Amino acid sequence: MRILSGIQPSGALHLGNYFGMMRPAIELQDQGEAYYFIANYHSMTSLYDAKQRRANSLDVALDFLACGLDPKKCIFFKQSDVPEVTELSWILTTLTPMGLLSRCHSYKDKKARLANDDVDSVNHGLFAYPVLMAADILLYDSNVVPVGRDQKQHVEVTRDIAAKFNDTYGQTFVIPEPRIRDEVALVPGTDGQKMSKSYGNTIEIFGDEKIIRKKVMSLLMDSRTPAEPKPDAEKNVAIQLLKLIATPDVAQDFEDRLRAGGLGYGDLKKALFEHYWNYFSQARTRRAELAANLDYVDAVLKEGSTKAKIVADKVLQRAKTACGLD
Ligand code: TRP
Repeated sequence: MRILSGIQPSGALHLGNYFGMMRPAIELQDQGEAYYFIANYHSMTSLYDAKQRRANSLDVALDFLACGLDPKKCIFFKQSDVPEVTELSWILTTLTPMGLLSRCHSYKDKKARLANDDVDSVNHGLFAYPVLMAADILLYDSNVVPVGRDQKQHVEVTRDIAAKFNDTYGQTFVIPEPRIRDEVALVPGTDGQKMSKSYGNTIEIFGDEKIIRKKVMSLLMDSRTPAEPKPDAEKNVAIQLLKLIATPDVAQDFEDRLRAGGLGYGDLKKALFEHYWNYFSQARTRRAELAANLDYVDAVLKEGSTKAKIVADKVLQRAKTACGLD
């Protein structure tokens, strides 16, 4: 089984990234041949600062390795170190209906946020983004793509494009499956909406202690007094986050106490912070070690791209032969 996923270097990674994509990806590295990459080409659709892109890419590498990505078990690389993906992307773009792309939620959301009536602030890269993602997936004959729920539609687009290519030019690409973990499909942010950088409601995996404590203490709650029973305790954001980072028993205990009444929101948030801090404590130490050994991180990524290229070249050649470009 070939597993593949990518993550954008768009800033410090947060709990939404961790539970939605990183942890499933890390677990899957034991179950097949895993290819994971830092999607720095994708970040170009919305980030225009070279220094920042470099810094973010390194941060993602450190975060991933610190959280347990093991370069002995998987192939970990930077997307732009295998530029063949852009060639495949062009080939695929010629078989991608405009309508398919204009129906993508992530495009529609970003467009709505950017544009209002300024059409020119929506760049072509943003529109073509799912085609590059299809190229990422198809270039490595991937069977399984672990992603957060927000990326499911893009994997479906990939399946459509692959099927269309196979129909047009003969059997060439493997049709991939999205892999989404239902129990962690939705990680709420500090305001109760889906945790996302664009909503400004994130809790970073490796945030500064003071800053994260403050964020956790500011989680949005209602004005009910501590004594009041809360029959809707399972909807509480702190409880939902606690369920992700504490043991089931501990999370259940807090939920029961909140439901019964008597547990104040302040105490609940304090407990959440302590569990968050412990949950990542080993990874935090590991990250500091890695940050002091950047040559190692560089070497990991370089070796990853060398290995990735071997498969990429083979599949790209297969595609070029199929459509008469050889
Ligand atoms: N679009 C994905 C995201 O923002 C990142 C990504 C790029 C990706 N290429 C991919 C994910 C290929 C899975 C497979 O989260």
